[in-house]
Amino acid sequence: MEAIIQAKQLCLGYKRTGIVIKNANFSIYPKDFVFISGASGSGKSTLLRSIYGNLPVQAGDLRVMHYNMKRISTHRLAMLRRKLGIVFQDYKLIEDWNVEKNIALPMIINKFPKVEIKTQAEKLLSHINLLHKANKYPLELSGGEQQRVALARAIAHRPRLILCDEPTGNLDDYSSDMIWGLLKSSNEQLNITIVIVTHRIPKHLNLRYRRIEIKEGLVNEYA
Ligand SMILES: Nc1ncnc2c1ncn2[C@@H]1O[C@H](COP(=O)(O)OP(=O)(O)OP(=O)(O)O)[C@@H](O)[C@H]1O
Ligand SMILES: [Mg+2]
Repeated sequence: MEAIIQAKQLCLGYKRTGIVIKNANFSIYPKDFVFISGASGSGKSTLLRSIYGNLPVQAGDLRVMHYNMKRISTHRLAMLRRKLGIVFQDYKLIEDWNVEKNIALPMIINKFPKVEIKTQAEKLLSHINLLHKANKYPLELSGGEQQRVALARAIAHRPRLILCDEPTGNLDDYSSDMIWGLLKSSNEQLNITIVIVTHRIPKHLNLRYRRIEIKEGLVNEYA
């Protein structure tokens, strides 16, 4: 099967910090559910950033779907991002847009028909139990509610791949169970590949998953 993400001798880093990820080799396949763990500052967000095309490849190779991330044009990057859903560590919701419009964002970008946007946004709002807050603005929501909105937005356009950075970081059980449930069903029912940074792997979900750990710059897979 062809990999959806493939890294070969991948090196990542920043001018000031220097190298963060050294010679990483891994492949992620369609429908994989992958957890990325590692200490704070180990490079988890850095790795996600490179997959999202937000950080240049320093050496080696990184392919995401058919895109070579080493020399990707702005135009091709925009095309790739349409097939991705992403949940950032700090949510990144649009503050002057209400909840419903935030969820609609990727569908607007992907030029979904208006009626479909409305139906899909309402369906997701009810999935995350926030239908009654459709017209509220992000800053009027709790952290857990904002994170649920961020995930609904990441899923809305049915991407092939979802990248999540600590989606359940500081959340209570209610919100985090809802988020895990949505990710699990996106993976199992919609065949979406999921790559998640998390410190705590939820054990009660009966997921079939892979675990990748970053330690001292090295990326390893554990059974
Ligand atoms: N924009 C940046 N410029 C320079 N160095 C950075 C930048 N972002 C991250 N770093 C450095 O790269 C290293 C890895 O950071 P990264 O954010 O990937 O860690 P992380 O594993 O996501 O940590 P956490 O669990 O705390 O989110 C750290 O040493 C950090 O200081
Ligand atoms: Mg991080």
